[in-house]
Amino acid sequence: TRPLVIAPSILSSDFSRLGEEVAAIDRMGADWIHLDVMDGHFVPNITFGPPVVKAIRGASKKVFDCHLMIEPCDPYIEAFAEAGCDIITVHAEATTHLDRSLQAIRATGKRAGVALNPSTPEQAIEYVLDRLDLILLMTVNPGFGGQAFIPAVCDKIARVKTMIGDRPIDIEVDGGITPETAPLVVAAGANAMVAGSAVFRGGTPEHYELNIAAIREA
Ligand code: DX5
Ligand code: ZN
Repeated sequence: TRPLVIAPSILSSDFSRLGEEVAAIDRMGADWIHLDVMDGHFVPNITFGPPVVKAIRGASKKVFDCHLMIEPCDPYIEAFAEAGCDIITVHAEATTHLDRSLQAIRATGKRAGVALNPSTPEQAIEYVLDRLDLILLMTVNPGFGGQAFIPAVCDKIARVKTMIGDRPIDIEVDGGITPETAPLVVAAGANAMVAGSAVFRGGTPEHYELNIAAIREA
């Protein structure tokens, strides 16, 4: 089994102090830093792009886990790689040629991920498993932080876990992860958990430390 990973999403951080916030979650126990990139087209919200990723790259040496909620995605893969992302995840629903998108990510030397919306069946990735380093199963409909966890995704986690066999692929979940829902997704087979509001709740580094520890211990 793969190591347990907690990846705080900076979507719930204070954007006016983004560099400090990244340094704070790094110091307070984050394993990876999760970056939610939204385009106002694939999802009904807009966040940030490669220049902002580049600007915060110096604030942490940890893995930058980049979740692209953009359509199209292929034209931007290189820019996110150059900005300093270590994992680049594209949505299966946002690319017509998923196999090609994954090859393009690996061609940059970065780890390749595929995200699936809650309603997308796991068969969408059946024939690209050997091009994948990470599968991101959305446990909310992407677009906003602070939404309620969708428990039906637990079945999909278990199916994906069986499907990947002994391949070295991380199973990550994203949306509504709290100390209450974390045990459910880990029991189903996830090893990496994104958490936004549950990490940044309280607004100070001391809170972040307690919040991250609470998820890990759960
Ligand atoms: C949703 C984003 C998530 C989000 C998670 O579109 O992909 O990463 O920030 O936020 P919480 O943990 O608050 O559900
Ligand atoms: Zn995300």
